[in-house]
Amino acid sequence: MSGFPEALARAAATVEARLQAGIAALPASSVRDAMAYAARGGKKLRGFLVLESARLHGLAPGTAERSAAAIEAIHVYSLVHDDLPAMDDDDLRRGQPTVHVKWDEATAILVGDALQSLAFNLIAVPDAALTPEARLDLIASLAQAAGGAGMVLGQALDIAAQSAACPLTLEQITALQAAKTGALIEWAACAGARMVQADTAPLAAYAGALGRAFQIADDILDVEGDAALAGKRLHKDAEAGKATFVSLLGLEGAKARARDLVAEAEAALAPYGSEAHLLREAAQFVIARRN
Ligand code: IPE
Ligand code: IPE
Ligand code: MG
Ligand code: MG
Ligand code: MG
Repeated sequence: MSGFPEALARAAATVEARLQAGIAALPASSVRDAMAYAARGGKKLRGFLVLESARLHGLAPGTAERSAAAIEAIHVYSLVHDDLPAMDDDDLRRGQPTVHVKWDEATAILVGDALQSLAFNLIAVPDAALTPEARLDLIASLAQAAGGAGMVLGQALDIAAQSAACPLTLEQITALQAAKTGALIEWAACAGARMVQADTAPLAAYAGALGRAFQIADDILDVEGDAALAGKRLHKDAEAGKATFVSLLGLEGAKARARDLVAEAEAALAPYGSEAHLLREAAQFVIARRN
């Protein structure tokens, strides 16, 4: 059995190559250069989840690569926009200057827009390995996860929370994070099941808990992470007066909650038995990670 770190590294290389090929096929422009720059690096965890969920559903290697590149394109778009001055105003991402710092704000906005279009194009193009129905389902569900009912909604709630009269409750933060971070992670984990029209419920339950643990870990990293390892500025949440699991439960309380969620994520994989060992290790990884 090969371990999770090797599997993640392999997936990251495969997904990055697919994504960069999609970008390289665009006409030359400064936006294309900046897209290639922004797409470099990162853990590619969402891409890994797509590939692994496809493998669990018996799909041949390669079948899910375009969908894996697509979710990473949406994710990178969300990061480029998240770092803009109008949002989190960050100058460092993945250890490098953010796109609006290296280029300018207009370029960063267009990079996000073009990455979003690229994502849908990657899934929409005819592909002998996937039925048109499966591709349509992937597209419709990705639109739902990325848009005004998913990631964009979560980002809007996150921004609104910073100027809210009273801090959010745990329940409100949970809902915010389910949209902001959970929706894309859930789409990634369920993608393989969608490709063969299988039941998405067990993987959706896994991803729901995984996504919550992932965002709590991000909030913990913001407080006690190592900026050099994280590759982004830390201590931003407290500075912005953002209510997070850490601000409401304290560091130890947030860590305990994240551990409970990892156990919940692992339990949800029961129907897949030992075949799902990499997804179990992925759940452990999201709370142990340093970046
Ligand atoms: C960071 O996501 C943004 C959040 C949703 C918390 P990742 O931690 O997956 O970032 P990369 O892709 O590895 O850079
Ligand atoms: C970003 O959340 C989530 C999305 C981009 C959808 P954060 O603002 O907490 O992410 P970081 O800490 O900048 O990576
Ligand atoms: Mg943000
Ligand atoms: Mg941010
Ligand atoms: Mg953060």
